[in-house]
Amino acid sequence: MKILVRLGELFESERLIPIDSAHVSGISYKTLGDAPIEFLETLANSGGKAKVRTTINPQSFDPKYLAKKLPANIRGKQLRILKQFERMGVAPSSTCTPYYLDRPRRSSHLAWAESSAVVYANSVLDAHTNREGGPSALAAAIIGKTPNYGMHEAENRRPEVLVDVWKPLRDEVEFGALGIHLGKMLGDKVPLIQGLRHASEDNLKQLSAALAATGMTNMFRREPIDTETSRMEKINVGSKDIAQTTKSLSTVSTQKPDLVFIGCPHCSITEVKRIAQMSEGKKTRSGTECWVCTSRYIKEMAVTDVERIERSGFHVLTDVCTVVSWTEVLGIKTIMTNSAKTAHYAPTLNKAETILAPVSVCLRTAFGG
Ligand code: F3S
Repeated sequence: MKILVRLGELFESERLIPIDSAHVSGISYKTLGDAPIEFLETLANSGGKAKVRTTINPQSFDPKYLAKKLPANIRGKQLRILKQFERMGVAPSSTCTPYYLDRPRRSSHLAWAESSAVVYANSVLDAHTNREGGPSALAAAIIGKTPNYGMHEAENRRPEVLVDVWKPLRDEVEFGALGIHLGKMLGDKVPLIQGLRHASEDNLKQLSAALAATGMTNMFRREPIDTETSRMEKINVGSKDIAQTTKSLSTVSTQKPDLVFIGCPHCSITEVKRIAQMSEGKKTRSGTECWVCTSRYIKEMAVTDVERIERSGFHVLTDVCTVVSWTEVLGIKTIMTNSAKTAHYAPTLNKAETILAPVSVCLRTAFGG
């Protein structure tokens, strides 16, 4: 309660409001480190229990494949973290796409801490959440409330910047590049992005993740929207901007990555189906790690497609993603991905070179050209 009240004071919020769900980030031992483990243990020891439906972000390994490859001390620390959440009644979800498990109601209030999911929830699902930190999301989970400010208030959800995208975006990489490009320019302003009316939810997910990776914007708006736009600040995005951003997210041009990774943010059921179709009758080349990351929920829903993908040599991993796993311990130095967010973070968080390309090109590379 002290965390929530202090947060409310900082943002001049007058009251706490009930939330439907909480989503806690900072679960991976790689990004969390040692110090917060004691904080989690103290909370669990003192009887802290989630009062609302609460999910958690990916951790540093999946239960089967990577768990066997990582050193015992890393596994031990990670399991100790997960144990505290279990003791607090939190679902062992370990995914950054909690909206596939339980799609929030329109206009519902949430306390979510994964930035990609925050932008997606506000922009695509029309739910209301600020970008929480791990501790404030956990505090909100235990109390069942969050301070009323920011994205919870209608006046802060109005668009302030009009974004004109020069031509229709072709694939998930271009949606991600748009997010990376705009995130750097917007600060925390809400943009109205023209031309997204027919975009798929999977492409909007890429845009959400990338926008949050380079900026503090928690929401974008799409047409149609009943707002006067003539006095808004304007940003024009040309094909050159998209091409340059895409190029900047590839740090090498080799076609022999150590890892081909699809699933940032975690794959939807339609993405899993598409990958299964493209993997039919193919075999991954030896010496290349090939991962598709998704949630346990989606994996269970798509058993046949998962089997088809795994027959090709890809590993369909749950609970984990490349960015928060210990790829450097596994000797992975070059990562190919269709995710602009992963390409943005991997050089620092994974100490890896990156190649950004659409899923079809990633799969072609995984299958040997
Ligand atoms: Fe999710 Fe990991 Fe990407 S947490 S958004 S798959 S960096």
